[in-house]
Amino acid sequence: MNKSIVLIGFKSVGKTTLGEALAKKLDMHWLDTDILLADKMGCEVRELYLRLGETEFREQEIQVFKDIVMLPNVVISTGGGIVEHSDFKNTVDASSCLTIHMVLDWVEICHRIKENPAFSQGRDLKEIYQHRLGLYQQAADVEIDVSRLKDNHG
Ligand code: S3P
Repeated sequence: MNKSIVLIGFKSVGKTTLGEALAKKLDMHWLDTDILLADKMGCEVRELYLRLGETEFREQEIQVFKDIVMLPNVVISTGGGIVEHSDFKNTVDASSCLTIHMVLDWVEICHRIKENPAFSQGRDLKEIYQHRLGLYQQAADVEIDVSRLKDNHG
């Protein structure tokens, strides 16, 4: 496939699991912004978030994404907060990738998230989820219900 596929959605919806599976099935390459960011900065993502703070983390994250989104034949799993960067929507619009929002309801997300993520920073996780829903919807070409996806991570 000439164009890339970009998976977006909240933490734990299964962006990594589906990304890997799609890439394998479609004979495409799989890339993950969290993994690329950790490799680039030499630091695990949670640690990096705490060290850089949200604004700088998002700058680094969007840069990694911009570097790969134009590549042909790739499935890209993204970090759940990438939509918070004001350049994200423009970047996907300009790249003609297929952007898929993986939709999962709040109750199921709560079951899957075992510890408070670094990005919540004391804020209410549900409010972050609700705020981001609009951002995911605006950026996505299609939305899919992933409540029946098994072995979800990321
Ligand atoms: C984040 C989600 C994480 C990671 C970072 C910030 C977020 O990725 O990028 O900890 O703000 O939602 P996953 O969605 O893959 O867990």
